[in-house]
Amino acid sequence: MEMLKRPRRLRGNEKIRSMVRETRISKDSLIYPMFVDANIEGKVEIEAMPGQFRYSLPALPGKLKELSAAGIRKVMFFGLPKEKDEKGSGAYDENGIVQQALRLAKKEVPELYYITDVCMCEYTSHGHCGVLKGQDVDNDPTLEYLARTALSHVQAGADMVAPSDMMDGRVLAIRNTLDANGYEDIPIMSYAVKYASSFYGPFREAADSAPHFGDRKSYQMDVHNIREGIKEALSDVEEGADIIMVKPAMSFLDVVTKVRDAVNVPVAAYSVSGEYAMVKAAAAKGWIDEERIVGEMAVSAFRAGASVYLTYYAPEIAKLIDEGK
Ligand code: PBG
Ligand code: ZN
Repeated sequence: MEMLKRPRRLRGNEKIRSMVRETRISKDSLIYPMFVDANIEGKVEIEAMPGQFRYSLPALPGKLKELSAAGIRKVMFFGLPKEKDEKGSGAYDENGIVQQALRLAKKEVPELYYITDVCMCEYTSHGHCGVLKGQDVDNDPTLEYLARTALSHVQAGADMVAPSDMMDGRVLAIRNTLDANGYEDIPIMSYAVKYASSFYGPFREAADSAPHFGDRKSYQMDVHNIREGIKEALSDVEEGADIIMVKPAMSFLDVVTKVRDAVNVPVAAYSVSGEYAMVKAAAAKGWIDEERIVGEMAVSAFRAGASVYLTYYAPEIAKLIDEGK
């Protein structure tokens, strides 16, 4: 038999493998999500996310410096306010927890790039992502609160805002408000294709943001749909989104690929809390090789078409990159 094609020729050793590799990961593309908490001292570990913490303001700069030294240059803040109310006023308070964190971080660790999650669920007494009308989130009035929140973040120093609420029209509302206040150059990364996923469980414990009744299915997307995700992505680009996010990552990489083909802006994939928790739990049992699994998950997101990857494993991935793994 004459065999001309032997794919194994390009797999024979690490020298050739590394030459023809199709996907390469850079620390520059990683974003590390963090929780800042107004109710604690020091830092408190998140139960379902071993190795992840909620930070008090005084504990924040130290962690940021550590990240910076490891080459992680982009972080995203979530806030846990002192008090919650019906209208989530802690979200747009100029002395709110995220706003204070931004001022402190920009002063103490100015070399990092600060992104904020813009949503109301950590700030509302009912745990939904906007203000309510009856048992459901009232879309249009919520837009104003989201825009105010985004503006207050930018005024406090945010380099980029990332709305995660899934209300219709919020990118346009935020864009208009930022522009009207002279912030035309602040980019918006839209959680455009965000599914009503069960993978957010550990996050909701971490951020104390689970809805007190019902679920988020009237605003977050049905996990069965992909064409709808493209619709969401296209309309957010039209509204002025600079980056489109798909979330979660691992179980939704088909969506990452399709969205990447449909839009001409960078696509971000968010490996969420439940993905982290699953890997940690299996690793703790000794059932998987955590380091390799984390590397594979990251590679998969980029291979699927993401240009940006949000992950609680960012520091570990940075280390893998440093070690050439
Ligand atoms: C806020 C928000 C959530 C996440 C990011 N922003 C939770 C939710 O929508 O319930 C999830 C992040 C994660 O699970 O790591 N809306
Ligand atoms: Zn929310």
